[in-house]
Amino acid sequence: MPFLLTEEQKHLQETIHKFCISEIAPHILGYEERGEFPRPIFEKLRALSLTGMMTPEKYGGAGLDFSTYALVIEELAKYSLSVAVSLSVTGLPQNIIYRFGNEDQKETYLKELATGKKLGAFSLSESGSGSDAAGLKTKAERKGPHYILNGTKCFVTNGKEADIYLVFVRTSEDKTKGVSALIVEKGTPGFSFGKQEKKMALQSSPTMELIFKDCAVPAKNLVGQEGQGFSIAMQALECGRITMGAASVGVATRAFEEARNYAKIRTQFGNPISHFQAIQMMLADMATSIEYSRLLVQKAAFLKDHNLPFSQIASMAKTVASDTAMQVTTKAVQIFGGNGYCQEYPVERLMREAKVLQIVEGTNQIQRLIIAKEILR
Ligand code: CAA
Repeated sequence: MPFLLTEEQKHLQETIHKFCISEIAPHILGYEERGEFPRPIFEKLRALSLTGMMTPEKYGGAGLDFSTYALVIEELAKYSLSVAVSLSVTGLPQNIIYRFGNEDQKETYLKELATGKKLGAFSLSESGSGSDAAGLKTKAERKGPHYILNGTKCFVTNGKEADIYLVFVRTSEDKTKGVSALIVEKGTPGFSFGKQEKKMALQSSPTMELIFKDCAVPAKNLVGQEGQGFSIAMQALECGRITMGAASVGVATRAFEEARNYAKIRTQFGNPISHFQAIQMMLADMATSIEYSRLLVQKAAFLKDHNLPFSQIASMAKTVASDTAMQVTTKAVQIFGGNGYCQEYPVERLMREAKVLQIVEGTNQIQRLIIAKEILR
């Protein structure tokens, strides 16, 4: 496994960094405060071919490998976790349609998503089925050339901003083999939106309920086979967990850099606080945990890129990196002292953002169960 970036990766990382400084950093706090989706930023990401990073060029994507994609997500998350999460979520239906969809679905939906003409969403959770994903109840009954959907989904990233939703529905009573995956387009009669969540952070990345009432979805929008949906969701989430690990490394790195820079200029007792060992210990622990988190994320991405089993490492990477993000951002607030608790400085926002990473795409408790299952297999 290579420990050094290639020249192409370094160049891309630098391009993304410059993009973040010029196009994200000056504007994102305004979007967060207004709770507004940063559409103009997405249009610019689209121009850079970043809306379909891992989709092959044949279908309008950039054809990056997972290791490079993880670097991009890490860099974006340093400046806006909202943007990184929204971008990663529009990638989830692409991942699914590319791997399990038929050629027609690829030609239409995958191309539109990868080119950024349309925005995607992934809808698995319901109010009664979060960790127990297979407990979902939204029903899809086959009637002639349609599935008729009834039910409510929740916590859907990209909310109403998306155009194409990959929705997991119940097509039979068998708990896991009765789940199927359907592509649902915004505007389909019977498909509406429920409440938009007011969250602790990520206000510019909308999280919404989807409501289906006698909603007729063409049966040709079934992805894979009827009953294959749970397996499809799990395989997509394995990839998503590496992505959330990368985003966690980004959030932690930004908090570390802010804390280190502040410690060098903040003077107390006649010295910069970076001269005090208590602060040095904290900075050293922060840097060390970021380093091993990044290594785990890159190992998971490397295994995925080489078609080797990566499920367990993906769960480890997501858990370790998001726990690290929580710890590092909390320490960063502590190093900033009273200023850290104030919105004038970025670390309190990073701490609020880190929390969701321990929950999203499978809580860290569920990740530990997945790891244990592999160990005891
Ligand atoms: N790949 C392929 N198949 C898999 C799989 C995987 N990674 N994991 C499980 N399966 C298969 C199993 O092999 C099994 O198949 P058989 O019945 O043929 O043996 C079947 O699925 C059932 O497996 P389990 O018995 O392990 O299933 P379970 O009901 O015990 O659930 C779980 C396992 C790990 C707890 C799973 O439910 C889970 O991951 N829960 C967390 C869900 C989650 O991450 N939700 C977040 C959604 S993201 C979101 O909503 C936000 C957003 O915007 C993106």
